[in-house]
Amino acid sequence: MTAERIDGKALAEKVRAEVADDVRAYGGSVCLATILVGDDPASHVYVGKKHDASHEAGIESRDHRFASETPESVILDLLAELDDDDGVDGILVQLPLPAHMDEPKVLHAVDPAKDVDGFHPLNAGLLYLGTPHLVPATPSGVMVMLAEYGVELRGKEAVVVGRSEIVGKPMAMLLLMEHATVTICHSRTADLSEHTRRADILVAAVGRPGLVTPDMVKAGATVIDIGVNRTEAGLVGDVDPAVFEVAGLMTPVPGGVGPMTIAMLLRNTLTAAQHRRSEVALPGS
Ligand code: GUN
Repeated sequence: MTAERIDGKALAEKVRAEVADDVRAYGGSVCLATILVGDDPASHVYVGKKHDASHEAGIESRDHRFASETPESVILDLLAELDDDDGVDGILVQLPLPAHMDEPKVLHAVDPAKDVDGFHPLNAGLLYLGTPHLVPATPSGVMVMLAEYGVELRGKEAVVVGRSEIVGKPMAMLLLMEHATVTICHSRTADLSEHTRRADILVAAVGRPGLVTPDMVKAGATVIDIGVNRTEAGLVGDVDPAVFEVAGLMTPVPGGVGPMTIAMLLRNTLTAAQHRRSEVALPGS
């Protein structure tokens, strides 16, 4: 039996259309500012797509791009300006930053109320405490996919492979909030397949092409591939496509999780605008 494919492209289009409707209903202007430092071609493509998608949803955007050797202080000064600018609702610092920059220091300089990536410690802490406000786009896109396809999470075994701040950890927290029994695996996990074979929901987010093979997957499991690996064979995920023959439901790469990330970024930008303009304090602040 072949797994049903989760169509991330179609679902992302639906979410983007919903956000566009909600932006119109909101009435006021909504503005996203992005900062990109350096010349990583993939980052330039991603940021370009974020601006195109914002425009399509009726969200204004500002595009700040800098050469790789730009001093960190220039970025911190710009962040201070954007934080204070009432016309800016969302701020996104594209990662990775050049090696001479202190990534946490830069990310912590984003106003948590405008932190549409959900990377600021306040937003990470709110998610940890089970009272999320702005949640990282990729894992929240996965949750929308699981809900859309009716995947039961309560009491199920969810295994997340990868413990990054932007995907693995927030993914685990979101699954936990839906009452899954969550295991986080990583590069030092002693016997990876012992864990993955138990999973009703298996999420791979490590950046290792084809890491998850059919023998590592329980028959009928839901498999979510967050890997984005550029190889000579093109864009491939962390999951071997042969897993389609074992899983019950699975995301393809490309066309799975990727398109959802931008859709959720737009949703977060509108949420930040609505929240800021209504002057409701962030939980706990
Ligand atoms: N680089 C790779 N993924 C992301 C993301 O979700 N947000 C930002 N800002 N940078 C990234």
